[in-house]
Amino acid sequence: MQKILFVCLGNICRSPLAEGIMLHLKTKKNLQVEIDSAGTSNYHIGEAPDKRTIANAKKNGVDLSFLRARQFSETDLDTFNFIYVMDQSNLKNVLALAKHPYQKEKVSLFLNAVYPGKDLEVPDPYYGTEQTFEEVFQLVYKACEQLSGEFSSMP
Ligand code: 4NP
Repeated sequence: MQKILFVCLGNICRSPLAEGIMLHLKTKKNLQVEIDSAGTSNYHIGEAPDKRTIANAKKNGVDLSFLRARQFSETDLDTFNFIYVMDQSNLKNVLALAKHPYQKEKVSLFLNAVYPGKDLEVPDPYYGTEQTFEEVFQLVYKACEQLSGEFSSMP
Protein backbone atom coordinates (compact mmCIF):
# COMPACT_ATOMS: atom_id res chain seq x y z
CA MET A 1 0.00 0.00 0.00
CA GLN A 2 1.27 3.49 -0.84
CA LYS A 3 2.07 5.75 2.09
CA ILE A 4 1.83 9.50 1.68
CA LEU A 5 2.98 12.25 4.00
CA PHE A 6 2.05 15.94 3.91
CA VAL A 7 4.54 18.39 5.38
CA CYS A 8 4.39 22.07 6.39
CA LEU A 9 6.13 24.19 9.04
CA GLY A 10 3.95 23.87 12.16
CA ASN A 11 1.76 20.83 11.30
CA ILE A 12 -1.24 22.78 12.61
CA CYS A 13 -2.60 24.52 9.47
CA ARG A 14 -1.76 23.30 5.96
CA SER A 15 -0.50 19.72 6.31
CA PRO A 16 -3.14 18.49 8.80
CA LEU A 17 -5.71 20.06 6.48
CA ALA A 18 -4.32 18.02 3.57
CA GLU A 19 -4.23 14.90 5.79
CA GLY A 20 -7.85 15.38 6.92
CA ILE A 21 -9.14 16.08 3.40
CA MET A 22 -7.26 13.05 2.03
CA LEU A 23 -8.67 10.84 4.82
CA HIS A 24 -12.13 12.18 3.93
CA LEU A 25 -11.56 11.29 0.25
CA LYS A 26 -10.10 7.91 1.22
CA THR A 27 -13.38 7.00 2.92
CA LYS A 28 -15.48 8.48 0.14
CA LYS A 29 -13.56 6.76 -2.69
CA ASN A 30 -12.33 3.67 -0.81
CA LEU A 31 -8.67 4.47 -1.54
CA GLN A 32 -5.98 1.98 -0.53
CA VAL A 33 -3.50 4.48 0.86
CA GLU A 34 -1.96 5.40 4.20
CA ILE A 35 -1.93 9.09 5.08
CA ASP A 36 -0.06 11.15 7.65
CA SER A 37 1.29 14.69 8.14
CA ALA A 38 4.18 16.35 9.97
CA GLY A 39 5.85 19.73 10.50
CA THR A 40 9.49 20.61 9.95
CA SER A 41 9.49 22.66 13.19
CA ASN A 42 9.03 21.53 16.79
CA TYR A 43 6.78 24.53 17.60
CA HIS A 44 3.48 22.70 18.07
CA ILE A 45 4.29 19.05 18.84
CA GLY A 46 1.29 17.27 20.38
CA GLU A 47 -1.15 20.09 19.63
CA ALA A 48 -4.43 19.85 17.75
CA PRO A 49 -4.65 21.80 14.49
CA ASP A 50 -5.15 25.58 14.69
CA LYS A 51 -8.72 26.42 15.85
CA ARG A 52 -9.32 28.46 12.69
CA THR A 53 -8.23 25.56 10.46
CA ILE A 54 -10.49 23.16 12.38
CA ALA A 55 -13.47 25.56 12.18
CA ASN A 56 -13.07 26.24 8.48
CA ALA A 57 -12.64 22.55 7.60
CA LYS A 58 -15.68 21.66 9.72
CA LYS A 59 -17.73 24.24 7.82
CA ASN A 60 -16.67 22.38 4.66
CA GLY A 61 -17.56 18.96 6.09
CA VAL A 62 -14.07 17.76 7.09
CA ASP A 63 -13.18 16.83 10.69
CA LEU A 64 -9.61 17.64 11.81
CA SER A 65 -10.18 17.73 15.57
CA PHE A 66 -8.59 14.31 16.27
CA LEU A 67 -5.25 15.12 14.60
CA ARG A 68 -2.12 15.95 16.64
CA ALA A 69 1.05 17.69 15.46
CA ARG A 70 4.37 15.90 15.19
CA GLN A 71 7.76 16.85 13.86
CA PHE A 72 9.10 15.51 10.57
CA SER A 73 12.01 13.12 11.06
CA GLU A 74 14.65 11.54 8.88
CA THR A 75 12.96 8.12 9.15
CA ASP A 76 9.91 9.56 7.34
CA LEU A 77 12.07 9.61 4.22
CA ASP A 78 12.15 5.80 4.37
CA THR A 79 8.67 5.12 5.75
CA PHE A 80 6.72 7.07 3.13
CA ASN A 81 6.55 6.63 -0.66
CA PHE A 82 5.39 10.17 -1.42
CA ILE A 83 6.20 13.29 0.60
CA TYR A 84 4.27 16.42 -0.37
CA VAL A 85 5.56 19.72 0.99
CA MET A 86 3.57 22.95 1.07
CA ASP A 87 6.25 25.52 0.24
CA GLN A 88 9.86 26.06 -0.82
CA SER A 89 11.09 26.44 2.73
CA ASN A 90 9.58 23.04 3.70
CA LEU A 91 11.20 21.60 0.56
CA LYS A 92 14.61 22.90 1.57
CA ASN A 93 14.26 21.63 5.16
CA VAL A 94 13.08 18.17 4.15
CA LEU A 95 15.68 17.76 1.42
CA ALA A 96 18.40 18.77 3.91
CA LEU A 97 17.63 15.55 5.83
CA ALA A 98 17.69 13.32 2.74
CA LYS A 99 20.97 11.43 2.39
CA HIS A 100 20.15 9.33 -0.68
CA PRO A 101 18.82 10.17 -4.14
CA TYR A 102 15.96 7.65 -3.68
CA GLN A 103 14.81 9.68 -0.65
CA LYS A 104 15.04 13.01 -2.51
CA GLU A 105 12.93 11.60 -5.34
CA LYS A 106 10.00 11.07 -2.96
CA VAL A 107 9.77 14.77 -2.11
CA SER A 108 7.80 17.29 -4.16
CA LEU A 109 5.79 20.49 -3.89
CA PHE A 110 2.18 19.49 -3.21
CA LEU A 111 0.66 21.88 -5.77
CA ASN A 112 2.74 20.39 -8.57
CA ALA A 113 0.17 17.56 -8.37
CA VAL A 114 -2.40 20.00 -9.83
CA TYR A 115 -0.20 22.51 -11.60
CA PRO A 116 2.74 20.41 -12.85
CA GLY A 117 6.07 22.20 -13.09
CA LYS A 118 4.67 25.53 -11.84
CA ASP A 119 6.31 25.19 -8.40
CA LEU A 120 3.41 26.98 -6.67
CA GLU A 121 3.21 27.13 -2.87
CA VAL A 122 0.25 26.67 -0.52
CA PRO A 123 0.17 30.04 1.28
CA ASP A 124 0.59 29.91 5.05
CA PRO A 125 -2.75 31.08 6.52
CA TYR A 126 -1.35 31.44 10.06
CA TYR A 127 -1.24 35.25 9.92
CA GLY A 128 -4.19 35.50 7.53
CA THR A 129 -7.90 36.17 7.79
CA GLU A 130 -10.95 33.90 7.73
CA GLN A 131 -10.95 34.34 3.97
CA THR A 132 -7.34 33.10 3.76
CA PHE A 133 -8.34 29.90 5.57
CA GLU A 134 -11.19 29.37 3.10
CA GLU A 135 -8.91 29.98 0.10
CA VAL A 136 -6.33 27.55 1.47
CA PHE A 137 -9.07 24.94 2.05
CA GLN A 138 -10.28 25.20 -1.56
CA LEU A 139 -6.72 25.03 -2.94
CA VAL A 140 -5.79 22.02 -0.80
CA TYR A 141 -9.10 20.27 -1.56
CA LYS A 142 -8.51 20.65 -5.30
CA ALA A 143 -4.99 19.21 -5.02
CA CYS A 144 -6.21 16.30 -2.85
CA GLU A 145 -8.97 15.52 -5.38
CA GLN A 146 -6.32 15.34 -8.09
CA LEU A 147 -4.08 13.10 -5.96
CA SER A 148 -6.97 10.83 -4.99
CA GLY A 149 -7.55 10.15 -8.69
CA GLU A 150 -3.93 9.10 -9.09
CA PHE A 151 -3.90 6.89 -5.98
CA SER A 152 -7.16 5.16 -6.87
CA SER A 153 -5.40 3.60 -9.87
CA MET A 154 -2.14 2.77 -8.05
CA PRO A 155 -1.47 -0.73 -6.66
P1 4NP B 1 1.52 25.58 9.08
O1 4NP B 1 1.30 27.07 9.63
O2 4NP B 1 2.99 25.45 8.74
O3 4NP B 1 0.66 25.52 7.88
O4 4NP B 1 1.10 24.64 10.20
C1 4NP B 1 2.05 27.61 10.67
C2 4NP B 1 1.74 27.30 11.96
C3 4NP B 1 2.47 27.86 13.00
C4 4NP B 1 3.50 28.72 12.73
C5 4NP B 1 3.83 29.02 11.43
C6 4NP B 1 3.11 28.46 10.40
N1 4NP B 1 4.22 29.31 13.81
O5 4NP B 1 5.11 30.14 13.54
O6 4NP B 1 3.98 28.98 14.98
